[in-house]
Amino acid sequence: MTNTFEPVIIGFTCNWCSYRAADLAGTARVKYPPNIRLIRLMCSGRLDPTFVFKALSSGADGVLITGCHPGECHYLEQNYKALRRYLMLRRVLVQMGIEPERIRLVWASAAEGVKLAQEIASFTEEIRALGPLNWNGIEPAVAQPEKEVAYET
Ligand code: FES
Repeated sequence: MTNTFEPVIIGFTCNWCSYRAADLAGTARVKYPPNIRLIRLMCSGRLDPTFVFKALSSGADGVLITGCHPGECHYLEQNYKALRRYLMLRRVLVQMGIEPERIRLVWASAAEGVKLAQEIASFTEEIRALGPLNWNGIEPAVAQPEKEVAYET
């Protein structure tokens, strides 16, 4: 039987850099897996840790957090706050028995569309290797074989 698991990944992006990097990747036709659903925040510092738990408990298998490079945040030092929250989230996931690799932090400027696409691809492969999270018994997003339906004539 082939592995048909397709991970669902939520990607939180910063409006000023990583969201524009994803946009650049799209306009430059740089391919990245369609497994990621991007959510734009004004800054990575806006990422409340509950957003990550909400995503994971609602069916996501992984969460990608992206923001401006350190020292380049448009709101001064908010991405350092995102970094601290990311490290805290990884520790909490370990305490909950969840692989900390299910979340990843990536810095990407608006010019780094290719880098962001590569990070999305490698993160998708990592989550695919980990398998479905299946938090709260939510069924993983796998392709089901079509059932034969018998019609009466
Ligand atoms: Fe991009 Fe703060 S504005 S991380």
